Amino acid sequence: MSLSTKPLSGMRQRLPCEFRIEKYVTETLRLCSVQAGFEEYDGPVIEPLALFAAKSGGELAGRQSYCFTDRGGREVILRPEMTPSLARMVAAQGELQLPVRWFSMPLCYRYERPQRGRVREFLQFNLDVLGSESLAAELEVILVLQGIMKSFDAPSSIYRIGWSSRRFMADALARCGVEQSLAGAVFSAVDKRDKMKPDAWAELLLQACGGDSGAAEKVIALVSVEALSDQWLTDLMSGSSAFQEVVEFDELLRGVGVPGAIFSPGVVRGLDYYTGIVFELMDTGGENRRSLCGGGRYDNLAGLFGNKKISGVGFGLGVLTLTLFLETYGLISDTVKEAAAAEVYIAVASFEAVTGAGILAEFLRDKGIRVMTDVSGKKLGKQFSEASRYGIPFVVTVGSGEVKAGVYKMKNLSDGTVFTGSPEEITDRLK
Ligand code: HAM
Repeated sequence: MSLSTKPLSGMRQRLPCEFRIEKYVTETLRLCSVQAGFEEYDGPVIEPLALFAAKSGGELAGRQSYCFTDRGGREVILRPEMTPSLARMVAAQGELQLPVRWFSMPLCYRYERPQRGRVREFLQFNLDVLGSESLAAELEVILVLQGIMKSFDAPSSIYRIGWSSRRFMADALARCGVEQSLAGAVFSAVDKRDKMKPDAWAELLLQACGGDSGAAEKVIALVSVEALSDQWLTDLMSGSSAFQEVVEFDELLRGVGVPGAIFSPGVVRGLDYYTGIVFELMDTGGENRRSLCGGGRYDNLAGLFGNKKISGVGFGLGVLTLTLFLETYGLISDTVKEAAAAEVYIAVASFEAVTGAGILAEFLRDKGIRVMTDVSGKKLGKQFSEASRYGIPFVVTVGSGEVKAGVYKMKNLSDGTVFTGSPEEITDRLK
């Protein structure tokens, strides 16, 4: 029986032509982070299951996880996200000066049904501030996110950063008449709104509200609100400090100017650890329906590791999801997609010349020239064709005679001219 040529479903493999694009995206993300004073970190791919079971939420640590018992009898998980590991790393640094601004590019694993923008092994760019309770930290991470979109030339008309607050929603749900014991189920139903048909979602919400149709109707009205100035909303939230915080954050966003940011009470996020402002970045067109990025404030995560309360705020951005979005809008240029061709190809006339070819290649590479050496052993004509197939402009031929004389012929493939010279002269000519 022959083995399949396909990897396991949803697992990541990148051919060079795909890797070039991914590298461009990840390098741009790194650059934007460094520009805002963030530093890169990393953590383990395999973690104790308990780390995620405690706070990420049942779905992620349960049904969507790759978990197993290791040879030492420990229950472990392939990390489905980075935030709990980050919280542990920061909590362990007793003397660390807070706040810290950190970013990371981890491979994460989720046992999800593979579909456009969702796979089982994926790179997830993470950017977080830990140790600041000020709304300035929320503003800062959203500004970095906006900077990222700008650096890819994505205008704010093609994406939306929907934002709200978990604290505000908890208060609003109570004011809508949702019993406190049902709030978790209602949050989870609200989070599913964009992923379901309207009727099915209304039914789910009604169940989550314990069959209370009056409360369910108010929740529907709440998640449909489009502006903070909405009269029904301001009446509902009169005297609420959580609502006041939302208004303050809106003023910060308007003050700086984040045109893509839109108050959206329906954004509550699926992960259990969020406590304050939450946000998601979506494509406003129809093609990429799942979120590109999600984040928010989490106050109690680091507290799992001791008494110290460290508040964090940040986001995760799927590299694949972002790449699909950029491709949808033609924002990845052809130059990114093309391989950086070598500047010169060394054609090897015979096996006896292989050593000489290697020495010449080393010499030129030491001078900073990108050199591709023939390894096919084919006839010279075929080697020249190979060079033009790669788009390499010059070919230097190395045979035993050239090696002995220390002088080589270099052909310019575009105009057919030939230059003859020593390795130094060839270097000067190429430079
Ligand atoms: P999340 O919403 O679960 O948040 O994921 C954030 C982003 O990761 C998503 O918007 C999506 O782009 C990408 N992503 C998630 N699952 C998949 C998948 N199966 N395939 C491809 N991409 C995926 C978190 O994970 C939080 N820990 C983010 C965070 C950081 N919050 C604060 N700091």
